[in-house]
Amino acid sequence: MSQGLVTASYIVAAVLFIMSLAGLSKQESAKAGNWYGVAGMAIALLATIFNPEVTGLGWIIVAMVIGGAIGVRFALKVEMTEMPELIAILHSFVGLAAVFVGYNTYMDHGELSGAMLNIHNTEIFLGVFIGAVTFTGSIVAFGKLRGLVSSKPLTLPHRHKLNLLAVVVSVVLLIWFVQVEGSTFAMLVMTLIALAFGWHLVASIGGADMPVVISMLNSYSGWAAAAAGFMLSNDLLIVTGALVGSSGAILSYIMCRAMNRSFISVIAGGFGSDGVAASGEEEDGEYTEVNAEDVAEMLKGSSSVIITPGYGMAVAQAQYPVAELVSKLRAAGVKVRFGIHPVAGRLPGHMNVLLAEARVPYDVVLEMDEINDDFDDTDTVLVIGANDTVNPSASEDPASPIAGMPVLEVWKAQQVVVFKRSMNTGYAGVQNPLFFRENSVMLFGDAKDSVDNILKAL
Ligand code: TAP
Repeated sequence: MSQGLVTASYIVAAVLFIMSLAGLSKQESAKAGNWYGVAGMAIALLATIFNPEVTGLGWIIVAMVIGGAIGVRFALKVEMTEMPELIAILHSFVGLAAVFVGYNTYMDHGELSGAMLNIHNTEIFLGVFIGAVTFTGSIVAFGKLRGLVSSKPLTLPHRHKLNLLAVVVSVVLLIWFVQVEGSTFAMLVMTLIALAFGWHLVASIGGADMPVVISMLNSYSGWAAAAAGFMLSNDLLIVTGALVGSSGAILSYIMCRAMNRSFISVIAGGFGSDGVAASGEEEDGEYTEVNAEDVAEMLKGSSSVIITPGYGMAVAQAQYPVAELVSKLRAAGVKVRFGIHPVAGRLPGHMNVLLAEARVPYDVVLEMDEINDDFDDTDTVLVIGANDTVNPSASEDPASPIAGMPVLEVWKAQQVVVFKRSMNTGYAGVQNPLFFRENSVMLFGDAKDSVDNILKAL
């Protein structure tokens, strides 16, 4: 393949990646967006491995077959609820790859000298730094999501000063590295600092902010890939890395706004938060338990119903009977809508994907801001496997760890039915006063079984 053809293929791939991002931003075009991404990546891979400068094609193909087989196996096996973990571990690979590329380029930087060598050394240093932070940060995120590491924020004494120190020392080491023309000592010490920094940055972020962390690590992995692109002089890697880096940063910002969190505070490892751990499992008050037949009666007497799904609906795979319940109620003339919190579930858009899978019409699926004023005029709210996203303490208790986070104001409806298996807390580990309100009732059990039983009773 000639260099001209490689460049042309890279341009086509870059355009396809941009079309992919545009497609993925809307439910209706998301499938096409996915295909654009697949096509772009296939073209990029072919152009890269058949680039005349690339040697050792046999080894590359062996590595691709092994990597591809592992990837396909994981993609087929992974549950929707485990996606954030998978994404976190994949980000760690991107970070590690940037570290390896950095060390490789450091050991063999060709014929460069003078200002070009200084620029090249700066690229290497920054690439390894970003890669190492992404690597350990993503591993801690994986551990927290898997439950291997506590989801509570780690609050070391002087943690913000420690972070600042790590950044300042790394800048000094960068200057040293460039001036002493690639000091191995500076490179090794910086790598260790960056590994510890990435680990500490994510470890000090609490459970409820984890969605933002995942999208932020997505952004870091993009910048790590862009840095690797600079080191390898690969334009497509630079463009792709920058696309991932900036879209991840925009998504993190949007999620921070949706959760009323300061973007700077989250990316600086919980800077500005007091690090209060979640208050815990204590129950406060009495709750009323109902059965599926009671809920069916409530629904028969309702003219407007809002369903607020959460992580539990995904765990139970209850979206199919929920879709059936919706069409049954709509056929009986009941106004039924969904209220979707921006961080319901375990990854952005989680609930929208599940409902689309069960063929729920898009026009009855509303975002939190579109539906929050309508709870006052609603007869019945079905909270299906949601907890933190409907917790009134977020708006009513300034001492709550989730204080300030906008929530679906379900308690304003006439009656609220909460579907869950126990009185356990949600992801943020905070007790939910909604369960003890006078207009709330609890329907215990697996969400899918509960909805199936309601369908039978209807
Ligand atoms: P959660 O607050 O996590 O609550 C889920 C509820 O579902 C729990 O109360 C659980 O109670 C119940 N549940 C679990 N399995 C169930 C089953 N099989 N049947 C019935 N109920 C079941 O969920 P949410 O309201 O969706 O809030 C999302 C939380 O996750 C937020 O704190 C958010 O910050 C965090 N988070 C979000 C993301 C993104 S980007 N969306 C990523 C990571 C974390 P029982 O155990 O008693 O059944």
